Amino acid sequence: MIDALLQPEPAPEELARPPRLLAAMRYSCLDGGKRLRPFLVIETARLFGAAGEGVLRAAAAVEMLHCYSLAHDDLPAMDNDDFRRGRPSLHRAFDEATAILTGDALQTLAFDTLADAATHPLPQVRAELVLGLARASGLGGMAGGQALDLEAEQNSTPLTEPQIMLLQSMKTGALLRFSVEAGAIIGGADGATRSALRRYGSALGAAFQIADDILDVEGEAAAMGKRGGKDAQRNKATLVSAMGVEAARQRCADHVSDAIAALRGAGGDKNTGMLAQAAEFARWRKS
Ligand code: IPE
Ligand code: IPE
Ligand code: MG
Ligand code: MG
Ligand code: MG
Repeated sequence: MIDALLQPEPAPEELARPPRLLAAMRYSCLDGGKRLRPFLVIETARLFGAAGEGVLRAAAAVEMLHCYSLAHDDLPAMDNDDFRRGRPSLHRAFDEATAILTGDALQTLAFDTLADAATHPLPQVRAELVLGLARASGLGGMAGGQALDLEAEQNSTPLTEPQIMLLQSMKTGALLRFSVEAGAIIGGADGATRSALRRYGSALGAAFQIADDILDVEGEAAAMGKRGGKDAQRNKATLVSAMGVEAARQRCADHVSDAIAALRGAGGDKNTGMLAQAAEFARWRKS
């Protein structure tokens, strides 16, 4: 679906698609990554019997938003990382200005994709998806969390554990939570099921970022497709820096258990096995 959205022909109302920017967007989004966020959209929607083009479009929107966040995260002004997904990060493969513009254009294409009638016939469903992604990715979500993450590098006194949890819940948790929620919105989940799935998404997101921070210390660069050891170098505020690897590992396991427990509230007669496996994967992954 991302491939289909990133074709050279302009969409209605677009004037032209500059080839180099399009190539950078394709480099950033295609051929790589674990695709966890789109997986969550698709598997959550499936709980409600929803599948097909609209679900795939929502899944693509979330992945494009994520790829934008990675392109900007790797820039010299942010984490200054040269490798991503086993190859040069976007600004190394292209240049910094192109990496910034790629992020900008991926972000708007994500919202464009959700707002388009091809995603869902009901305007209120599309509006809910757009609002949800905006809240997850903006000031009070991913972008805000990235700001806190960068500010914390300069702190002489380390952040407290609750401050780190908030930072991570914003920079990483919000988009993972929304991925689950998007599937529930498209599937027409009732309020109680939706809040159980929100709890699942929050716990999964917390586990996922703690695992990322542990991998930064212990992981194999070849498997991860990105360099390790960067967080300590940059004085990042992580649970690993606050409480050590073993305590962080336990915390990660607790969040996975919470995620799976929340699924029981969402389950009823539904087969939530794939979502439970996704929570386990967040913990045991090597990349
Ligand atoms: C990396 O996300 C950035 C974090 C939020 C920790 P992923 O680990 O999902 O990256 P890809 O998509 O698989 O490359
Ligand atoms: C990235 O967190 C979070 C977002 C991109 C929003 P990290 O900076 O820890 O991710 P990696 O380790 O570079 O993938
Ligand atoms: Mg970062
Ligand atoms: Mg980074
Ligand atoms: Mg990291």
